[in-house]
Amino acid sequence: MNRESLIEEILALKEKRKAIILAHNYQPPEIQDIADLRGDSLELSLKASKTDAEVIVFCGVFFMAETAKIVSPQKRVLIPVAGACCDMANMLSPEEVVRLREKYPGIPVVTYVNSTAEVKALSDICCTSANAVKVVGTFSEKKILMLPDMNLARYVQRFYPDKEIIYFEGFCPFHHLLSPEDIYQAKAEHPEAIFIAHPECRPEVIDLADYVASTSGMLRLAKELPHEEFIIGTEIGLLYPLSKVAPEKKFYHPAPDKMLCPSMKKTRLEDVLNALKNFEFEVTLPEEIRSKAYQAVKRMLELS
Ligand code: 13P
Ligand code: SF4
Repeated sequence: MNRESLIEEILALKEKRKAIILAHNYQPPEIQDIADLRGDSLELSLKASKTDAEVIVFCGVFFMAETAKIVSPQKRVLIPVAGACCDMANMLSPEEVVRLREKYPGIPVVTYVNSTAEVKALSDICCTSANAVKVVGTFSEKKILMLPDMNLARYVQRFYPDKEIIYFEGFCPFHHLLSPEDIYQAKAEHPEAIFIAHPECRPEVIDLADYVASTSGMLRLAKELPHEEFIIGTEIGLLYPLSKVAPEKKFYHPAPDKMLCPSMKKTRLEDVLNALKNFEFEVTLPEEIRSKAYQAVKRMLELS
């Protein structure tokens, strides 16, 4: 089937199924192009909680589709590629969270949405890269446990010198690889460019950033700032939506080979069609886990 007929069939079936297609900002261009809504983790979970569609086709990684199911249990949530997972989410088991809670009794647990539903169910509140600083600021406690991303935790710590942020040593294997040397080299090659980093980057890289933002935050900055050139410190997939929101500007990636998340690149148009045709692959969750995880996600969404 050629691309045009594939897209036509997806759009027709989407109507028939009363479905909505959500895509994360890192998804392949052809998937972003057919999506009804694109965004960062926070925007997509908000959209999933508000849509009146009966079926959500979530083009992203598993924790994102799972979060859509957590907030919309009455809807069918489909992830077109069953094995698309977030390596950071897989680093932290629920058993480890129980152990950490025992080690730090009474301390609020703030969990990045890049985590499993079981881990969310054991947390007090969730956060995303877009709202982590705000979420931590809602606690009066001096000690906070942040899971599972140590780089996000160390970034948030900068805003609260009077707090002690304890963290689990998880990380995104792709953002963690970006080094200060990569940034020095990119700056030498593009002296006019400003550098925007994702908070999943290491502290030494954050130190060099002019701005730190979520993926959608980067899209807004690219559009709104007067600068013409940007060095982009996040997964390579963001370059496509950047080129769409500010086609007249220049975007450089400091380490394209290191910062490619394979799970984000797995979705093809054929997979989206298959999802709509065969209701594959459906995300299901035991109600006991979902309802507990919902409390943590709902608390976060109420702040947005
Ligand atoms: P955003 O919420 O900023 O889109 O980040 C999600 C993610 O997985 C970053 O690697
Ligand atoms: Fe997870 Fe990193 Fe991929 Fe984001 S880029 S989905 S944090 S593995």
